[in-house]
Amino acid sequence: MIISIDGPAASGKSTTARLLANKLSFKHLNTGMFYRGVTYAFIRQENFELNKESINDFFNNNTLYLKGDNLDVLFLNSEDISNYLALDSINEKIHLISNNSLIREKLVSMQRLIAQDHNIVCEGRDIGSVVFPNAEFKFFLIADIESRALRRYNEQKKTNHSLLYDDVKEALITRDLNDTTRSNSPLIKPLDSIEVDTTNMTIDMQVDYIYKLIKQDKK
Ligand code: CDP
Repeated sequence: MIISIDGPAASGKSTTARLLANKLSFKHLNTGMFYRGVTYAFIRQENFELNKESINDFFNNNTLYLKGDNLDVLFLNSEDISNYLALDSINEKIHLISNNSLIREKLVSMQRLIAQDHNIVCEGRDIGSVVFPNAEFKFFLIADIESRALRRYNEQKKTNHSLLYDDVKEALITRDLNDTTRSNSPLIKPLDSIEVDTTNMTIDMQVDYIYKLIKQDKK
């Protein structure tokens, strides 16, 4: 079974998807990790050059894969790159990667392969619309910008003491704008999805709410 969770940046997708997957004994597939991983790999190359040749080169010569019981560790070849995925430099460049149709095509194929072997709660931007249009349950998480910015700020402040709230908010707005307006698989709310506004919900509340909807429907 596939459960999709889409929504804008910092709407609570990752934590919700992880806890929901736990409760259901499903795997949690965070597709953002792939986009972040590819961005990281390209940033590390001498030239950040994106064209058909450099992209095919990258995918032919490297392996990007998730490991661990919870699919929460990302490897680039033999290197665990999970700790680098939240870097500011990645957030700044990720639109170049996520707007690219060839990269999306390759990452979507990888995501579909993983779902062949597992029951999954899959989160991202295009999961219910493009990756798994036949998902049994589709959720779309939203929250107002202030609470999303505050959540991301509190999360990142632990490791970055000089972080400014306004910068976090600005970066989220910029990324959301890119995600909703790109021509390629933009972030949209699938018509058959259930919208959940998490602005005034705790994580436990939103997980319980979604879990109950799934269980009720199965009765
Ligand atoms: O955790 P957060 O909501 O901030 O972002 P993420 O899920 O890690 O995704 C990071 C970026 O990857 C997004 O802003 C999108 O540009 C891109 N992405 C995408 O295009 N499609 C997906 N299915 C997942 C992520």
